[in-house]
Amino acid sequence: MRGGGDVGIPAALVEAVRHCRHACVLTGAGVSAESGVPTFREAATGLWAKYDPLTLATPEAFLEDPALVWRWYNWRREIVAEAEPNPGHHALVRLAELVPRLSLITQNVDGLHQRAGSRDVIEFHGNLFVNRCQVEGAVVTGHAAEIDGVPRCPTCGGHLRPGVVWFGEAIPARALDAAAEACEACDVFFSIGTSALVWPAAGLAAAAKASGAIVVEVNPDETELSGNCDFRLRGKSGRILPELVNCLAPG
Ligand code: OAD
Repeated sequence: MRGGGDVGIPAALVEAVRHCRHACVLTGAGVSAESGVPTFREAATGLWAKYDPLTLATPEAFLEDPALVWRWYNWRREIVAEAEPNPGHHALVRLAELVPRLSLITQNVDGLHQRAGSRDVIEFHGNLFVNRCQVEGAVVTGHAAEIDGVPRCPTCGGHLRPGVVWFGEAIPARALDAAAEACEACDVFFSIGTSALVWPAAGLAAAAKASGAIVVEVNPDETELSGNCDFRLRGKSGRILPELVNCLAPG
């Protein structure tokens, strides 16, 4: 394994990206950390250090107390609405211009990649700003009337829920298929800002590696994936990714 650390981007990695046909990028909460959006599992600041996912991010929790779940998701929406994409998000937009094809898979629900300008983002865990009818499953856009702190479906009157994937729920089939195709086809796979603990996203790097891709991790810390990476770039994505892009296209 080759490490980047503070010494810059390894030349062999720059060459591999320069000659790649298809790069696949998986991002996690760490990519948005420098925008002020909390991660999940970091000991002091992660959301799951302060809140119990079982009472906030499961279908059962929503059935039990939908108003509580909505208060928490409205709070998260406010944080994200005030956040701006950071240099890591912007560097991924630039990277997509520098390789023949780039697939961007994100576990993040904050929409910051899209706000930075990334296109065709594969949202593995849904989107915080989408509402779905709990009864019919349909996506509901626009303002919805609330009863007792819970927005209601304008068609059937049922509870609306945030359009995110909760624990115990399946990944949207289109996202799953698109991610599987990208992992099979790519020749370089980046795992950026994720603890690589939540499945099935955590298995994508291994799938890409099994199909012949080199695997690169960008993270200040060790993760479950670190031991199986070809390159490990230790540092914040808001610093490392612009540096990588600058190596590819100095400017
Ligand atoms: P985690 O909170 O588990 O991991 C965040 C990772 O980002 C950690 O490995 C940090 O070391 C790293 N990190 C922190 N700051 C960083 C920075 N500036 N640059 C790069 N990396 C940084 O978040 P995820 O792996 O995204 O799922 O969590 C996966 C899923 O678990 C989430 O999508 C969410 C959560 O439960 C659902 O809600 C379904």
